[in-house]
Amino acid sequence: MRRRIHTPPALSIFISVLLLASFSLYLSRDVFSGEESRPSPSLFRKRFSNLPLNFAVTENQYRHRSSHHVSSLGELSPDAILFPDWEVLLVLSPRDSLPSDSSDGYFCLFQNNATSPARPTGFLPFHQLVTFKCVLPSSVRRLRPFYQPILTKSPEYYWLGNDSGSPELLRWSHLAYESLSTENDVVLFAKGVNQRRDRSRPPSELRCVFGDDATKAVRTEVTISSQEVFRCRHPDEASLRRLFNGRDDERIKISLEVRQQKKVTVVPSLAYYSGPRKVTSEKGKSLVCACTMVYNVAKFLKEWVIYHSKIGVDKFILYDNGSDDGLEKVVEQLLLQGYDVKTLLWPWPKTQEAGFSHCAVYARDSCTWMMYVDVDEFVFSPSWLKSLHPSPDMLKSLLPLPRTSHGSSSSSSGLPIAQIMMRCLDFGPSNQTSHPIQGVTQGYTCRRKMEQRHKSIVLLEAVDTTLINVVHHFQLREGYRGKRLTRGEGVVNHYKYQAWSEFKAKFRRRVSAYVVDWRQESNPMSQDRTPGLGFAPIEPKGWATKFCEVNDSRLKVATQRWFRFGLDSPTGYKMAWQD
Ligand SMILES: *[C@@H]1O[C@H](CO)[C@@H](O)[C@H](O)[C@H]1NC(C)=O
Ligand SMILES: *[C@@H]1O[C@H](CO)[C@@H](O)[C@H](O)[C@H]1NC(C)=O
Ligand SMILES: *[C@@H]1O[C@H](CO)[C@@H](O)[C@H](O)[C@H]1NC(C)=O
Ligand SMILES: *[C@@H]1O[C@H](CO)[C@@H](O)[C@H](O)[C@H]1NC(C)=O
Ligand SMILES: *[C@@H]1O[C@H](CO)[C@@H](O)[C@H](O)[C@H]1NC(C)=O
Repeated sequence: MRRRIHTPPALSIFISVLLLASFSLYLSRDVFSGEESRPSPSLFRKRFSNLPLNFAVTENQYRHRSSHHVSSLGELSPDAILFPDWEVLLVLSPRDSLPSDSSDGYFCLFQNNATSPARPTGFLPFHQLVTFKCVLPSSVRRLRPFYQPILTKSPEYYWLGNDSGSPELLRWSHLAYESLSTENDVVLFAKGVNQRRDRSRPPSELRCVFGDDATKAVRTEVTISSQEVFRCRHPDEASLRRLFNGRDDERIKISLEVRQQKKVTVVPSLAYYSGPRKVTSEKGKSLVCACTMVYNVAKFLKEWVIYHSKIGVDKFILYDNGSDDGLEKVVEQLLLQGYDVKTLLWPWPKTQEAGFSHCAVYARDSCTWMMYVDVDEFVFSPSWLKSLHPSPDMLKSLLPLPRTSHGSSSSSSGLPIAQIMMRCLDFGPSNQTSHPIQGVTQGYTCRRKMEQRHKSIVLLEAVDTTLINVVHHFQLREGYRGKRLTRGEGVVNHYKYQAWSEFKAKFRRRVSAYVVDWRQESNPMSQDRTPGLGFAPIEPKGWATKFCEVNDSRLKVATQRWFRFGLDSPTGYKMAWQD
């Protein structure tokens, strides 16, 4: 029971027009081709102010839209999920457009009238759902249960006693959070259904549920259940028509029904269903793309994109975990320079594996090979040292190409190679005390002797339907095999232990689902832990000279030959990625 402000009719019409306008924007995108663009948080305003003022509205369409718009000005009740560290993610329903001209100035109003500022965090892909984040105020943390906050700009709202109308905060530990359609099936990502990595529930205990209303919902068979990935069939044509009710703008929630003994539960869901995805033609397919999870990497991105683009990566897909360091601006610059960089908002904590699975499905029609390396990792082959210029053939030379038309070649052992794995060479701070202005390839030149991990480039059509991947390697379908490159063929320069100021920021957040936080003492032997580093983010003595066993300037020398440009400045030479 919240106090409501009566919305004057003129305002309702205004809102309806906005809704209609955003709907027509939605239609104008090719939603199923995967080529829609995600407006950046800074584009919230643009999204509305750029609308043509004279678009045609028929009486019919108009009534139709206004009939199912529910939000009133100044108060929104988005889905809200409690994340670790008391963060709350708010996801507006597809029907709630932001009624105002700007996304600034919103706050979360909680059950005890406490408030906290709501930061706009962009749009979830595919359905363009508007998201915000706010922090659960400490006064609310003592209360039980937690109710979903209201998102508002207006100080006129307050909470009256118990709010039976407000649902409880969704728990991140038990949630269907994304869905993606292929031509043949639906891939659904859900937490809390398979509790352990090595033991997944059999698909027979599960059903996909399409639609909110349990009595009218359509259920289909689940074919794959592995980790956080579930695959199920599309509803048949007749059910689809019934679900969409003849309106293709109807948004259908999709979730999982879990049957255990006699108990049937439906996992809470934020995921919306879209019909079978159109497959794009083979023609426009890129040979090699790169997919990576990013958080606040704006300052490193240009070097990484320019370098890899010149050696043969055609497209870059960034899964952005809510960066707030101006990533969009750097991406815009790269786009203007002709690089193909796409950002998808992926705010889900500790879901690197699921994100990689998502990317394998998402990009399957547009990319033949997918490189899974991080933004601090650079693929390099010592054989390129001789070259005067970088070339797209460089990366190609590492792939089993192009002896057959299918992208993979048979080898002596019979099975075609569909994944190549490269050793990571871990570089140390190399005496740097801050981010090297000419780039990481220039600044970090001393590394450890032994490599620890592998990174891979995988043939997407050979990825197993379970989409299982562990630390950057996919399980392949039967009939394919992987190949390890020798150090002479190809390696990954991993600028892992950077100058302390950088390292500290990066290792505060671990991205992998199954790796413990680096500050925790529980897994001191993990390869992810940093030897000699305690459990506090305090600069260890002699950090700048640590992890330096071998001087290795090969990539520095090569990239200087390839990317040095213009006149040297007083601070030294300039590289192509410097502003
Ligand atoms: C919130 O504030 C209003 C107005 O001051 C008050 O009437 C109401 O009881 C408060 N609700 C709670 C839960 O404190
Ligand atoms: C709020 O609701 C809970 C459970 O329904 C109840 O136990 C409690 O007494 C209510 N509190 C108030 C202030 O009405
Ligand atoms: C994303 O950021 C949150 C904190 O905002 C963190 O807890 C989470 O692990 C990060 N997830 C990924 C996939 O980077
Ligand atoms: C780092 O500095 C130390 C001390 O000045 C020096 O001995 C060492 O050679 C330097 N290392 C590198 C990789 O430049
Ligand atoms: C790396 O090179 C520097 C400068 O030439 C030298 O001082 C240092 O000892 C070398 N380090 C190693 C591990 O070889």
